[in-house]
Amino acid sequence: MAPTEEYDREYGLLVVGSANVDLVVGVERRPGAGETVLGSDLAVHPGGKGANQAVAAARLGARTALLARVGDDAYGRLLLDSQRAAGVDTAGVLVGGAPTGVALITVDPSGDNSIVVSPGANGRLTPEDVRASAGLVRASRVVSAQLEVPLETVAETVRHLPPGGRFVLNPSPPRPLPRELLRACDPLIVNEHEAEVILGGPGGADPEEWARALLALGPRSVVVTLGAEGALVASGEGVGRVPSVKVDAVDTTGAGDAFTAALAWRLGAGAPLAEAAAYAARVGAVAVTRRGAQDSFPTAAEVEAV
Ligand code: RIB
Repeated sequence: MAPTEEYDREYGLLVVGSANVDLVVGVERRPGAGETVLGSDLAVHPGGKGANQAVAAARLGARTALLARVGDDAYGRLLLDSQRAAGVDTAGVLVGGAPTGVALITVDPSGDNSIVVSPGANGRLTPEDVRASAGLVRASRVVSAQLEVPLETVAETVRHLPPGGRFVLNPSPPRPLPRELLRACDPLIVNEHEAEVILGGPGGADPEEWARALLALGPRSVVVTLGAEGALVASGEGVGRVPSVKVDAVDTTGAGDAFTAALAWRLGAGAPLAEAAAYAARVGAVAVTRRGAQDSFPTAAEVEAV
């Protein structure tokens, strides 16, 4: 069967990436090296950068699919339940091979977090798994990925993009990227720390310089997120600024994933980059006002109310 007959471009967004259970403890102060601090009761939330993006897009109304791997265990079932409750197509979620990925997260009173991820099954999402689900990639207007799964798996994904298909990458956690991957990004979405790793050193005092330097590495467009300062969008047409939306943050976990998902979905719907980024900033702003990752993501109606 020809790929277009197989799925007929039926997904607004396919997310290729990780799914973790988030074990979250609130702390007065995140501990330094060699330090022990006491925290709140443990909260268990569905998370993982890939799974978060899929739920965020689906909650906004995007027809969304997830290509990921979870363990054959209770955490894996919790993650699948969360995807299905949000309306994500989970036909591409593979089960087994290793325990479900786990993220150990501390959140301080300002809403900032520290995260350690044990990838588990995410590390077993292979290029072969992508080849086996190539029909899903071809059936999607936009494909988005992050780096909590193997780099070669993400690289394999871009080899199956259909003509006219769009690829969005948030390289988190960051590492140097091969040229093939950089050239496929439209956009590459980074914060300051990620920009520094991709550039191989400090990008200079001016974030506009980082954006131009990143663009010179090959992506068709770049988005640099600047926290409270908003974001920069850069493409062949120049560099523009997207203002931030002022809110009181209680938990920033997953807000970047919601931003990326919203941006990717709006781009697939035909929005220009700056407009899609402005919408994504509003989605991220709502997410930081609520606790947890997936639990914090807004519906389109809630975004309109901001
Ligand atoms: O981006 C937030 C996510 O990072 C958390 O949900 C956690 O699982 C880690 O992957």
